[in-house]
Amino acid sequence: MPSGRYVFAAALALGFHGCYAETSASRQMTTAEAVSLLHGVLAIDIFPGHPLHLPPDAVTGAGYVPGIARLGIPSLRESDASLGVAFALGQRQDGATALPSSLAAAASFSQDLAFAGGAMIAREARSHGFNVLLAGGVDLARDPRGGRNFEYVGEDPLLAGMIAGAAIRGIQSEHVIATAKHYALNDLETGRGFHNAVIAEPAARESDLLAFEIALEQGHPGAIMCAYNRVNGPYACESPWLLNDVLKRDWHYPGWVMSDWGAVHAITALDAGLDQESGEQLDDHVWFGDALLKKAEADPATRARVMEAAGRILAAMKQVGIAGDGPRGKPDMAADAAVSQLQEEAGIVLLQNTGAILPLSTGTMRIAVIGGHADAGGLTGGGSSQVVGPGGPAASIPITTDGGPGSKWFTEIFDGTSPLSAIRAAVPHASVTFTPSRYPAQAAEAARHADIAIVFATQWNIEGEDLPDLALPDGQDAVISAVAAANPHTVVVLETGNPVLMPWRSKVAGIVEAWYPGARGGQAIARILFGAVNPSGRLPISFPAALSQLPRPQIPGFGQPDGASFPVVYSEGSDVGYRWYAASHATPLYPFGFGLGYTSFSIGDLKILPGRTPSFSFPVTNTGSRPGTDTPQIYLLGAPNRTQLRLLGWARVTLQPGETRQVHVTADPRLIANWEQAKHGWSIEPGMYRFAVAESAADMSSRAQALLPAQFLAP
Ligand code: BGC
Repeated sequence: MPSGRYVFAAALALGFHGCYAETSASRQMTTAEAVSLLHGVLAIDIFPGHPLHLPPDAVTGAGYVPGIARLGIPSLRESDASLGVAFALGQRQDGATALPSSLAAAASFSQDLAFAGGAMIAREARSHGFNVLLAGGVDLARDPRGGRNFEYVGEDPLLAGMIAGAAIRGIQSEHVIATAKHYALNDLETGRGFHNAVIAEPAARESDLLAFEIALEQGHPGAIMCAYNRVNGPYACESPWLLNDVLKRDWHYPGWVMSDWGAVHAITALDAGLDQESGEQLDDHVWFGDALLKKAEADPATRARVMEAAGRILAAMKQVGIAGDGPRGKPDMAADAAVSQLQEEAGIVLLQNTGAILPLSTGTMRIAVIGGHADAGGLTGGGSSQVVGPGGPAASIPITTDGGPGSKWFTEIFDGTSPLSAIRAAVPHASVTFTPSRYPAQAAEAARHADIAIVFATQWNIEGEDLPDLALPDGQDAVISAVAAANPHTVVVLETGNPVLMPWRSKVAGIVEAWYPGARGGQAIARILFGAVNPSGRLPISFPAALSQLPRPQIPGFGQPDGASFPVVYSEGSDVGYRWYAASHATPLYPFGFGLGYTSFSIGDLKILPGRTPSFSFPVTNTGSRPGTDTPQIYLLGAPNRTQLRLLGWARVTLQPGETRQVHVTADPRLIANWEQAKHGWSIEPGMYRFAVAESAADMSSRAQALLPAQFLAP
């Protein structure tokens, strides 16, 4: 079969009728041209002595794959990532709008806001000349020390899949290809290049894989990036089970699988289902370059697979309608910052509000703002996803001082707007002082002379490293305790990429989780503190009370030198996060789904509506005196012969004081079912099922039960 026709046939088989492959140009693609689409470089000039020679249409960023000019196939110009057009290790100085941490998007429980964020970063990416965003992180936050949890969307497969899927849809609505990543089980960063994630297939299907499955259904990303780590033996990018069987056969995924940067170890990855080698300078060999061409020319089966892989890339280009030419459009930075601010305002979680200290009165006269570089900006997460706004970082704190290439990477960056300035703008007649949090006594002294003390506390996370523990670093706990002892009207604002322990919790009045707050974090935080916005965020990740509550109190391999593979056994299976706390009868510090506001809500009786898949109906009333948004959640509590806590759905309801609304939520049957390995599908046993509508995973307001018939769902 001529190679070009194979691409056409493959594309039709993939369901892309009238797709790119139909053009006469693509029908003429040679094997060599197809291979040229299957590998690309890291388009950042960081290797001393090995300068990059990129063609004029390349853009400095994460990746570049040359197009085929004679066939009108555009180059792939790839940028990191989920939070905006990334800084590219300081190589991009043009600046971009940062979304808050993806945990904030997840905490909003709002697909609309996730979509808007995705569309915004895609418009900016396109204006810089990129047509692929390596954005769409959906690995589960299995461990609250996970170094990339801030780039991911929480611990629950439904929430993660829905929010990541909406962000992906938003990105692609602007004709930029999105990339679901890191497939799969890249849930810890320790030894990420060689650790072996060990998990039984049913548990994987019901947790991490389900998050990806839902994200793909919701978002239809053109690309998916396989992970660095091994999964049950083989590397994720070389796993026939993950790529060929689950992704391409069971889920009928029509896009292409690109590797993570430096994640390919053998040419046989192609047979396992990998379609494209990315960041090829980081691999030991360029596996999908000349070596692959030679193999394809000698072996018809390899050639057919090469043409199919290229066809997947063309199909995705066509599906998303990417721009072939250079930069398009000019970003409206003010409008983009407003999108980021909205996401942050909806994602901030009010954790504690003793004596209704919040919202602060705008008549407050003396405010002591302490710590967290709140005079400069908000904390950002480190690594490839790092975004820096126009004008460069507001403050940079080097973590390593060796001056080597690593020092650029290990720099704690504060950016976006300054919370201190936003607080001053909110209360122009108040005296607002700022004190760094270097010395507890100095911070306490500032607090003593104020009506209100607001302490900003930070926990930096970076790709490639997990946290050693959940304590706030750099003596911040001591500062908060000293401030709280000096002034009972203390509010702590957390800018963290993960949960933290709070030994001072009972001593402070208010606690606000602001995550990494994005381009307009200062304003968003001030608007929450002073009540211009009623907090509505809900935790997408449980906050443990102690490390001993975790399935793995110690991270396997932590602190050991890089080297041989070691297992990370996910013995908790699909009982991730709140499900684990329920199964192990532990009480976390703050449960999944939890968040306070400045009004109150009541939830009425839960009714289950008949049907093969249960759907639920219940009334919600705003019983307080301010307008506000509630996020009631539906949980499965138990199935025949087992107790099992699982989020089945939620609604986001904005109500005026006194207003009541009847809410309907439909469950995804896969969350009621279990994966039955022998039958290769989702099985619902017949019998009595128990459900609840709740304000968090630890607070079941109203319960009901229903008899469900047997059901089997093929994947
Ligand atoms: C990260 C990816 C990123 C890629 C390109 C890798 O180290 O794991 O998330 O997209 O680099 O920068």
